[in-house]
Amino acid sequence: MEYREYNRLKAIIDEHILDFLPEVDHKSITLYEAMKYSLTAGGKRLRPVLVLAACDFCGSDMKEALPFACAVEYIHTYSLIHDDLPAMDDDDLRRGVPTNHKVYGEAMALLAGDGLLNSAFEVMQKDMLLYFDDVDKLKCRLKACYEVARCAGIRGMVAGQVADMEAENKQCSKEMLDYIHINKTAALITAAVLAGAHLGCADEQKRQLLASWGEDMGLAFQIVDDILDVCGDEQEIGKKTGVDLKQNKSTYPSIYGLEESKARVFELLDEADELMAPYYDEAEVFNELTADLRDKIK
Ligand code: IPE
Ligand code: IPE
Ligand code: MG
Ligand code: MG
Ligand code: MG
Repeated sequence: MEYREYNRLKAIIDEHILDFLPEVDHKSITLYEAMKYSLTAGGKRLRPVLVLAACDFCGSDMKEALPFACAVEYIHTYSLIHDDLPAMDDDDLRRGVPTNHKVYGEAMALLAGDGLLNSAFEVMQKDMLLYFDDVDKLKCRLKACYEVARCAGIRGMVAGQVADMEAENKQCSKEMLDYIHINKTAALITAAVLAGAHLGCADEQKRQLLASWGEDMGLAFQIVDDILDVCGDEQEIGKKTGVDLKQNKSTYPSIYGLEESKARVFELLDEADELMAPYYDEAEVFNELTADLRDKIK
C-alpha cells in the first residue's frame, strides 16, 4: 500500500529535523554529533507527522507547527537513546544502526539524551517568543508545550518506563500492562496529536476526538511493537528481535498470546477509524497510519 500523505509529511520532517537544534560551541561538537547521529539515523517520524497532521486537520497552516513537531521528535529520540542503555533495555541496534552508546559510549549517550530533551523545550519556547504580539497563537503554543511536558514526564512516558522496568521478571497484571503501555508509549503519541490540535487552535470537539484517536493509536502502536519483537523482521524494524523475551519483559504477547494481542490491535484500530469516519477526506494521514499498523501484523 502507498501511504502518500504520510510520506509527504515524513519527508518534511526528515528535511527539517536538524534545523531547530540550537547551535553549540565547537567545544561541544561531540555532544552535537551524538545527538545528530540518532536524530538522522532514520525512524518512522510518527509523532512529528502527527503534530503536523493534527494542526492541518484543525484547519491551520502546518508549517507553523514544524518547530513543535521536531521538538516532539527530539523527545522521542532521547527516550530511545536512554531506553537502549545497558541499565535499561541493553540494546545494540536501533533504526538500523548501532545504538548511540555503542558508538559514543554510555556517558555521552546519557548526555545526548539530556541534550535532546532540553533542546526540545528550548525550541518550543523560542517559537513562543515569536508570538508575543499574537496572544491567541501564543496561548495555543503554551497549551501545546504544557501537553508535551505533561505526557513526556513523570505522569506519562517516564512513569511508563519506570513501570516497564519494574515489571521485568515478574508476573504483571493485565491492568498493570495497560498502565505501562499507555504511559510509556501512548502518552507521547497522544501529546503529539494534542499539541498539533492546540497549534491548530482546535475547538473542544476536535481536541476530544484527536485525544481519543491518539489513545487508541498509541496503545495499538505499542502492542504492535511487542508483536514485532516476537515475529518481526530485524531488517524491516531496524532493531533486534526477541529482546523482550530475553529481558523477561511483560508484553502483550507474553500475557495474552499472539492471536489475542493481534485481535486487540484490530479492535483499537477499528475504534480509531470510526472516530475519523465522518472526516474521511480530511483524515487521510490518520487513516493511512491505522492501515499501516494493520498491515504490519497481517
Ligand atoms: C519505538 O518507537 C519505541 C516505542 C514507543 C515502541 P518507534 O517505533 O516510533 O521508533 P522510530 O522512531 O520509528 O525509530
Ligand atoms: C520503549 O518501549 C518506549 C519508550 C518510551 C522508548 P520499548 O522498549 O518496547 O521500545 P523498543 O522496542 O526498544 O523500541
Ligand atoms: Mg523499553
Ligand atoms: Mg527497548
Ligand atoms: Mg519494544
